[in-house]
Amino acid sequence: MNIIIAGGSRGIGKAIAGVLAENGNKVLITGRNIESLINAQKEIGSNISIFDADINDVKRVDELANFVGNTFVPDVLILSAAQFPKPETARSVVDADAEELSGIINTNVVSNYRLVKKLLPYLKKSQNPRIIVIGSTAGVRTDNGGVYGISKAALINYVYNLRAELKKENIGVSLINPGATFTETRKKKSPEDDSLLESKDFGILVNALLNMSHQAVLERVDIRPLAGDTY
Ligand SMILES: NC(=O)c1ccc[n+]([C@@H]2O[C@H](COP(=O)([O-])OP(=O)(O)OC[C@H]3O[C@@H](n4cnc5c(N)ncnc54)[C@H](OP(=O)(O)O)[C@@H]3O)[C@@H](O)[C@H]2O)c1
Repeated sequence: MNIIIAGGSRGIGKAIAGVLAENGNKVLITGRNIESLINAQKEIGSNISIFDADINDVKRVDELANFVGNTFVPDVLILSAAQFPKPETARSVVDADAEELSGIINTNVVSNYRLVKKLLPYLKKSQNPRIIVIGSTAGVRTDNGGVYGISKAALINYVYNLRAELKKENIGVSLINPGATFTETRKKKSPEDDSLLESKDFGILVNALLNMSHQAVLERVDIRPLAGDTY
């Protein structure tokens, strides 16, 4: 399969890219920082190509869509890029300012919405197209999510709408909501710390999802550490 992962240069997106490439898929990873993309490509090895694009940059997203249209038929689009909140006000909807809320909704909802619209015409050419969105359990819980949680709650509603609307187009839409996950940016407190999920687990899950029969759609899954939400 040909797979595009927006936000595939680090963290959960990169871990998914690694497992899918290892399983023989051709994976195009995107992100803003070209160095991170090159490093991820070197680390994963074969079956990986890169394209630098900020999902908030409309012109660059158009260029990405043109590149995809001229190069291959994508079977799967995975949305993993996100803006995180400022650490000092991450859990507060009283202290975080409205401009931060606006920016975070723009990246996590509006830009993902636009990206789907731009790539849909190409996905429709695939025999078995799928869209997989990485949300967050912060969008499920009704406390402590801050402005980030508001954006992820909106994303969940968007994905439900997309799932309902795209079934008639033969496109499966899946939502995966991770809890706190160990990445380059979210560190463990110690090597023994098991309060975070391993990002590779999302690669294992997505690979299984893509090996299901065409008519099966994993609609939504919430995955938390054994200890539950750990923030
Ligand atoms: N890690 C967690 O604990 C956790 C928990 C719940 C949900 N999630 C969700 O899982 C997904 C991945 O998170 P992560 O922890 O793996 O994040 P991460 O390690 O920060 O990686 C984010 C990826 O997205 C790219 N990206 C960020 N902003 C972008 C933009 N404006 N345009 C294009 N690419 C952009 C980054 O590359 P550049 O910076 O180079 O652009 C990077 O490849 C997100 O949707 C996040 O909300 C994560």
